[in-house]
Amino acid sequence: MNGTKDIVLPKFYPKQLAFLEAKGARNCYGGAAGGGKSFVARWLLILQAYKYAGINILMLRRTFPELSENHIKQLIQILNCKNPSKSERLAEYKADQKVFIFPNGSRIKMGYCKNEDDVYQYQGQEYDVIFMEEATQFTETQYIYLTSRNRLSSEKMKEYGFKPRMYFTCNPGGVGHAWVKRLFIDREYTPTENPEDYTMIYAQVTDNKFIMENNKDYVNNLMNLPEDQKKALLYGDWDVFSGRFFTEFSIETHVIEAFPIPKGWRIYRTRDYGLDRTAVLWIARDFEGNSYVYREFGESNLVVSEAGKKINELTEKWEDIYMDIAPPDLYNKNSQTGRSAADIFREKCGHYLTKASNDRVQGWLTMKEMFKLESINGEEPKPKLFIFKNCTELIKCIPLLRFDESNPNDVAKEPHNITHMPDALRYYCISWTYEPIENPSKKNRKDTLPFELRDDDAEEEKYISWD
Ligand SMILES: Nc1ncnc2c1ncn2[C@@H]1O[C@H](COP(=O)(O)OP(=O)(O)OP(=O)(O)O)[C@@H](O)[C@H]1O
Ligand SMILES: [Mg+2]
Repeated sequence: MNGTKDIVLPKFYPKQLAFLEAKGARNCYGGAAGGGKSFVARWLLILQAYKYAGINILMLRRTFPELSENHIKQLIQILNCKNPSKSERLAEYKADQKVFIFPNGSRIKMGYCKNEDDVYQYQGQEYDVIFMEEATQFTETQYIYLTSRNRLSSEKMKEYGFKPRMYFTCNPGGVGHAWVKRLFIDREYTPTENPEDYTMIYAQVTDNKFIMENNKDYVNNLMNLPEDQKKALLYGDWDVFSGRFFTEFSIETHVIEAFPIPKGWRIYRTRDYGLDRTAVLWIARDFEGNSYVYREFGESNLVVSEAGKKINELTEKWEDIYMDIAPPDLYNKNSQTGRSAADIFREKCGHYLTKASNDRVQGWLTMKEMFKLESINGEEPKPKLFIFKNCTELIKCIPLLRFDESNPNDVAKEPHNITHMPDALRYYCISWTYEPIENPSKKNRKDTLPFELRDDDAEEEKYISWD
């Protein structure tokens, strides 16, 4: 670069090289702790700043102390910023603006987003490269907002043929575990996301020769961590992470193949409603008090009457809803119309709702009790709550729920989008008071199949009408 000394590159490990060479729109290097992610992150910034004169880069950590301790100090040293002779410096560091400025006009802005709204400080800015270090510490809302800031900053960058990019490094766990896992591990995309944009490089601690040779104790320490933390930080396992609330839940035990609901089992319906998400679960209770979540419905942007209509469309005529459970906030009256969501569900959709308690701690504890394996009369231990395989949103959300940092008996309310289905289930769990008894009037029912109504049964079936 003109007017500066040449920079001496370290020897990168193969995974680090793969990350440096990744040029997709979204590139993630994640997994085990100590793989060398932060190290390569710094070099990636420097190399891009060197290669593309005038590039505008944003480097983010969640908090300023993390940013300062992990990157600013090291970059100041690598770039020789404190050298008294200007010509010996590879870049200037302007501490008041937290920006490194290179002689070729490239800039690396060092930023952080401690609070949810801190991300809006980048409003109106354009960054050719955005780097989210420890990406799983950021919320999905922050990530989505940042994607809107990732665009070409100048004509010059266009001339290079440069495509705006985002880079991520991370370990499993943290408030952003769910969105990172969806994009880079599960690779489940919305219609507006292009799968080819997402590149994942899996980090292992064994990738890092420096640690393996000089810090053997570090690996031993990881070995001694509790099982889920060990899996996440030593092996980079994305299916577990520390802070998980429902440690008693496992896919192998609680998720089962669908089966026809036998006659006489009591049917419950439970919901969480908001414009952001309508989440509804249909649950059958057997005569031993076991509960089976057998259907779910989740959709965003539905007004109350639309949500009610869809719920009715999904509810089959054989389903004689014993209790239709709803959270207390649905009973809040609108100050202008004087009517509540519960009123609209009743008047327009025929839903006679039962108000659940919103004692969160008690609700989660009841759910934990129901997930817990228990042996009755010396039999094989079993839970009381099962989920049919087809309820995919609920099954995905439960393992992602984390402890609320300020109250270990409560579930964190962020990320909000994973709380809707579990909230609906919580309202059911807390409303459960007694086991169903066989209803003699239903003795003659011929059908055991839940998903069809026999003609000769139709007349005697009570069901919720939406006509
Ligand atoms: N290519 C390399 N050459 C020399 N040392 C390296 C190299 N890569 C990483 N290291 C050293 O290995 C150690 C761990 O690296 P680093 O902090 O980048 O790991 P990490 O994956 O970010 O860890 P964590 O998951 O804890 O954030 C550091 O001391 C770093 O300087
Ligand atoms: Mg790191």
